Amino acid sequence: MDIYEGLYTTRMMRRLRPDPVPLETQARILDAAVRAPNGGNTQRWHFLAVDDPELIAAFAQLFRRARALEYEKFQTGTGPMVATAPGADAAAHVATMRRMKGSGDYLADHFEEIPLLLFVFAIDDLGGANIYPAIWSALLAARAEGVGGVMTMVLRNFEDEVNGLLGVPVEEGWKMSAMLTLGYPLGNWGVAANRHPVQEVSSRNHWGKPFGLEVPQPLWPPQDAVSA
Ligand SMILES: Cc1cc2nc3c(=O)[nH]c(=O)nc-3n(C[C@H](O)[C@H](O)[C@H](O)COP(=O)(O)O)c2cc1C
Repeated sequence: MDIYEGLYTTRMMRRLRPDPVPLETQARILDAAVRAPNGGNTQRWHFLAVDDPELIAAFAQLFRRARALEYEKFQTGTGPMVATAPGADAAAHVATMRRMKGSGDYLADHFEEIPLLLFVFAIDDLGGANIYPAIWSALLAARAEGVGGVMTMVLRNFEDEVNGLLGVPVEEGWKMSAMLTLGYPLGNWGVAANRHPVQEVSSRNHWGKPFGLEVPQPLWPPQDAVSA
């Protein structure tokens, strides 16, 4: 797969088939992930794959409780999903959140059908900076394998329960950074088009000065490929 196709179409896929992800595929995903950059190449990361249905069922309960908590925070005007970017259209954000909730509800309601969870742990992930390259590499490699999923953080609301269920050696400093749900998607991959274009979020030489070029449409797929 062309690297740009991977970059443009690695959407968060919440509707998954229950079919298992073969071990060799999981190996390719994780082997790509461990190539990611990390500070000092200390590689203080650990990837814990969960495919035991009983454990997935236990996490399903926890996930639904954690998600309810996040939406409670959202309703009361707190939590990470509330604040929009400065100057952004608040009504549009509410509409986006409503759409996302629909897709998130599906994920929560069908959690037991997810064939594979990937918990990512790190020691001192530097606010995520030291682990997100590896997580994104895992999602991109998964995309190349036809495997989709979602990066979630809501289970961090119940860190102790997660650590208990998985036997995490917390005394060594390990902390959960994220949990990925992985499987073969029911739907089709599409370009992540619902993003503010480059010229709206970039500037040159001084904050707010024009970037110098407008990018009205996603540059992938290339227009000549589309019309060919
Ligand atoms: C740090 C982080 C946390 C996220 N947490 C969740 C989550 O808990 N549940 C979920 O369904 N999606 C989660 N997402 C996925 C985003 O909602 C998704 O990337 C965004 O809505 C854009 O959708 P798209 O990537 O499919 O274009 C998270 C993404 C990031 C980067």
